[in-house]
Order: sequence, then C-alpha cells, then structure tokens
Amino acid sequence: MSKGRIFSGVQPSGRLTLGNYLGAIRNFVRLQDDYECIYCVVDMHAITVWQDPAELRHTTREVAAAYLASGIDPAKSIIFNQSQVGAHAELAWIFNCVARMGWLNRMTQFKEKAGKNRENAAVGLFVYPNLMAADILVYKATHVPVGEDQKQHLELCRDIAQKFNHDYGQEFFPVTEPLIFGAATRVMSLRDGTSKMSKSDPSDNSRINITDDSDTIARKIRKAKTDPEPLPETVKDLEGRPEADNLLGIWAALSDITKEEAVAAFAGGQFSGFKQELADLAVARMAPIADEMRHLMDAPDHVDSVLADGAARADAIARPILDEVKDMVGFLRG
Ligand code: AMP
Ligand code: TRP
Repeated sequence: MSKGRIFSGVQPSGRLTLGNYLGAIRNFVRLQDDYECIYCVVDMHAITVWQDPAELRHTTREVAAAYLASGIDPAKSIIFNQSQVGAHAELAWIFNCVARMGWLNRMTQFKEKAGKNRENAAVGLFVYPNLMAADILVYKATHVPVGEDQKQHLELCRDIAQKFNHDYGQEFFPVTEPLIFGAATRVMSLRDGTSKMSKSDPSDNSRINITDDSDTIARKIRKAKTDPEPLPETVKDLEGRPEADNLLGIWAALSDITKEEAVAAFAGGQFSGFKQELADLAVARMAPIADEMRHLMDAPDHVDSVLADGAARADAIARPILDEVKDMVGFLRG
C-alpha cells in the first residue's frame, strides 16, 4: 500500500553537490518503495537566473543521470523535466493570482538570490515559489522530500493550497507535508561551516561535486576547514564548532548512522585521522555514482527517453487535476 504521493525537484543550474545528494536525492531513492514518486528536473526554475542554453540541456541530462545513477528506478518512479509537462506553468499562473505579494516578500531565498540589485532580478525569481507550489499540487502530492533550505517554500505551498481551497469552497488540494530527514539535511561549505554548501559558491573547494573524481574528493576533505580542538565527546560539545559539526554530520549521513553515533566513534580523536577515514568513505560512496553518471552521459539517448516517458506519465496524472482546477476557477474548456 502506498503511503501517498511524493513530488520533488532539483534545479539543473550547475553541478550537483554532496548537499544535493545527502539532503535530497538519496532520500528520494529510499522513498520509492513506500510512496508513488515523481521526481522532476526543474528546468523552468533554473532559468529564473540566466542559463546558457547548451549548458542547460547538458545539466538537465546530468541531473537526470544523477537520479538514475543514485538508484531512482524509472520503472517504479516517474523521472522527467518540468518544461515537458505544460500543466506546471498553467497552474503556476493561477497560483500567481492566489498568492499575495506580502507572502512572497517574506521569502528569504529571493532576498539572497536577488541580492542588492532587486530591481534587476527577473520577475520569475520572485514568483519562483508559486511555480514550486504548482509543481507539487498539480499532482496533489502529499509529501515532499527536500533539504532544510526549502522549508519556507513548502510553507508557502501549504498557504496557497489552503487559500485556493478556501476561495473556491472545496477541500481540493492536500496540505503537503515536508519530509526532511537524515543526518545531513543542511550540508555546509567545506571552507566555512556557517554557509551552505552550494553549486553557486565561487570556490570549488567549498563543495564536493557529485562528479568529482576520487583524488579531488580526498584533496577537498583534507583541505576542509577545521578548528584546533580535538573532536568532541558529545553532540552538545559541537555547539560553536560548525566545521566539526558539518564533517561529523557528513560522516553520519554517509555511514547511515546518527550524529550521536558518529560523535561517539571519534570522540577525542584528531581531525587528521578522522579526515582520512571520511575521505575514504566519501570516495567509496560517491565514486560509483560518478562512474555510472559518466556512463549514462556517454549515451544520452537513454536519459532522453527516460525523460520523455516520464513526462508522458506525469502529464497523464496532472492533466485531469488541472482540468478540475479550470472548472473550479470558471475557465471554459471545449
Ligand atoms: P537545488 O540545488 O537548489 O535545486 O536543491 C535541490 C535539493 O537539494 C533541495 O531539496 C535542497 O533542499 C537540497 N539541497 C541543496 N543544497 C543542500 C545542502 N547544502 N544541504 C542539504 N540539502 C541541500
Ligand atoms: N526550489 C527547489 C530547490 O531549489 C527545487 C524545486 C522546484 C522543488 N520545485 C520543487 C523541490 C517542488 C520540491 C518540490 O531546491
């Protein structure tokens, strides 16, 4: 018995990082047996900041390849890219007319991404969360696995669902639950434990890319910032030690144990020995995924056919839901 329907997405806006893997993609894989899962490559979200067209085609395939290489099975789950299913954009327009300016003005990610020059940000960047709500609700998805940074957007999705239901007088959309789990829901930069590991950080040493080779992974971990103290004895002692906290969180997530267990395993140890073990573990877990991605990218026809098949299956779910919405709103259809 399925516990519900899952939707989640990753933007093809650069190289995927260990943060995307541990915070999102790995969890996607684990949910496949219990839920009906729809995993999207959100190319329409990506163009809210400039993307070179050839590069966008490449990274769209690369995110799909990462899904497949990580273990998402297209026989069980739907994998597709957003722009192939028109229902997302259609529902997003309706949500542009449901969500309030004040709600979107509170979104911290917009403020971060638009920076100081807000007047020059694309309008799409501002209404980005409405499209995200449409992605989820056009399938009436009940659960959304994401990293911690997406929490606020999911709260907005719930607000939109509730306002739509209220305005049109019907309990139509579900109030979606976020699924944020694992020991690394917010993986931090290797150069600064107080900022998020991100595709867009100018320093490549700040992150582990999902496609990094073994030597690069090991070098980046060896160079990762730490502090002068030995490793802590308890999780509480991690307070004020963001780099130690982050590296132990990564260790825990990669070995599938809790942070408490990871802290206990290295209590009082030196960073040098721990880093060596962490590098070996990261290589053991990540290198096979990178290898499989390279293999898939060598023959992208297979990836493209997975996306086309997924888009047709996604469309078949979304279309009837969108038709009902159109009727509720008062749009005539032939
Ligand atoms: P994005 O790369 O912004 O499209 O993010 C795709 C997914 O990866 C979302 O669920 C994010 O919450 C998650 N994610 C991105 N960066 C991190 C990170 N540093 N730690 C944990 N999860 C992350
Ligand atoms: N905004 C998400 C991110 O940057 C990506 C995304 C788009 C998404 N649509 C979604 C995630 C729907 C979950 C559900 O990480």
